[in-house]
Amino acid sequence: MGGHGQEMAAAWLAVTDHADRLRPQPLRALVAQPGRAQALTAALDDLTLDLTKEKLDAGALAALISLVQASGAPALRDAMADGKPVNNTENRPALHMALRGSVAPDTPGVAEVAAVRARFLAFAEAVRSGAYVAADGGRFTDVINIGIGGSDLGPVMAVRALAADADGPRVHFVSNVDGAHLADVTRGLDPARTMVIVASKTFTTQETMTNAHSARAWLRAAAGEAGDGHLAAVSTNLDACAAFGVPEDRVFGFWDWVGGRYSLWGAIGLPIAMAVGGARFERLLAGAAAMDRHFLEAPLEANLPFLLGMVGVWRRAMGWPTVALIPYDQRLERFPAYVQQLDMESLGKGVARSGAPLERSSGPVIWGEPGTNAQHSFFQLLHQGTDVIPVEFILAAEPRETMDDHHAKLVANCLAQSAALAFGRSEEEARAEMAAKGMDPAEIARLAPHRAFPGDRPSLTILHRRLDAFALGRLIALYEHRVFVEAAVWGINPFDQWGVELGKAMASDLLPAVKGGDASGFDAGTRFLLDRLAALSAG
Ligand code: F6P
Repeated sequence: MGGHGQEMAAAWLAVTDHADRLRPQPLRALVAQPGRAQALTAALDDLTLDLTKEKLDAGALAALISLVQASGAPALRDAMADGKPVNNTENRPALHMALRGSVAPDTPGVAEVAAVRARFLAFAEAVRSGAYVAADGGRFTDVINIGIGGSDLGPVMAVRALAADADGPRVHFVSNVDGAHLADVTRGLDPARTMVIVASKTFTTQETMTNAHSARAWLRAAAGEAGDGHLAAVSTNLDACAAFGVPEDRVFGFWDWVGGRYSLWGAIGLPIAMAVGGARFERLLAGAAAMDRHFLEAPLEANLPFLLGMVGVWRRAMGWPTVALIPYDQRLERFPAYVQQLDMESLGKGVARSGAPLERSSGPVIWGEPGTNAQHSFFQLLHQGTDVIPVEFILAAEPRETMDDHHAKLVANCLAQSAALAFGRSEEEARAEMAAKGMDPAEIARLAPHRAFPGDRPSLTILHRRLDAFALGRLIALYEHRVFVEAAVWGINPFDQWGVELGKAMASDLLPAVKGGDASGFDAGTRFLLDRLAALSAG
């Protein structure tokens, strides 16, 4: 698996040559070239990827395609779909595609997928319909999902994204070990009407287990031991679930071949099914499966995840270390946070699959907020700051809420931003505009540099018809596979996350000292902070 040395070196050289060629070429000139839309857009049904405002052209794209081929990414993709142990540092396959039916059902290990799905969807329906009731016989009105990272971000993002379709109990999320999170979510909720799902692949994560114990105490304070009937769990660790007091019929399993950040398609998606129902959850899976088919079958030059992956690789070759993800869709407000984990936990690596140090920059910093709000906060820096920060816009053609001309305005803003970033406004244009308004020439001269926009800032736009369960599933899978492609080109294993371990272990070591125990074994800086904390909390 992986590319062959010489072929890869030549392919990288070609890509960097194109990067050197295109870096000084203004986007204004590139975008004006004929045939750009044909060369730099691709679609899967209504889902369209517009790369016309990326600093790319057909030649650079061809070099990127050769790089992807030389890296062995297509073969690695097929190995993933065949259940081969592509997660080489943990020696296991990465079979999240099995959760949406996109790998052969006889692939070892995936036989139970359909049965577990049927169980958790049936449980969601029982809670929604009132067939499964609270300790006092009443219906559940609220559900709290307790989990963190991959056991939180997927469901919280999807439940918010599908708010237009929410027709079940209200679903809330608690992730942070900061007691403020659980306190704020439970305030105003009635424990007699609330179900708590404890979602943890390992069922050992400190934050989740701490919140789970406090939430169970909250339920028990209202309903005694019968409050335990309000608990359900999602985990691979069935023994620990039983020890916590959740009986087998309310425990929904998954498998070690699903990474946390790829797990919303299985039982971790239970809160999504609670909020929008099993039928819509199946549409979410169908959308992801449509993207899987496309990823597995479409030629590279028309393959959306491959193209998106190539753009990611290209940006690093151009020297841009960060990407802003800006959905022009309020209900995708948690999508940037979701992609942050997906991308940065997968690609935030400094060594290759072999353990050798990487020779090139790997995953970028991903961040973002929905538009139009973002325009009124950090877009200033995107337009006039000293760094180039590529942007990924996401936009739906149809709104889910028909309200006067809100959507037309949302669309106009989105299109305006990508054009403004690309084309800017020269000082001359700024001067002419001020002159047309009859401004004083001295004032024009003084303000022109401030009112000019350098432009030449790349972006891409992902357009789809409307945000529903199918479209969301497709969009998430697009980003999942994009991460896979980038990892393959950089030679990274995207399925482990050893980088989160050190801090977790240190937090466990520190806990006794924070509680007043012996701190002598810690470094001077940490001892200083422990002393200050003790003084401040005592005072
Ligand atoms: O700390 C990172 C991480 O391991 C994530 O990869 C995972 O999604 C999260 O913690 C939560 O883990 P668990 O589901 O086992 O509680």
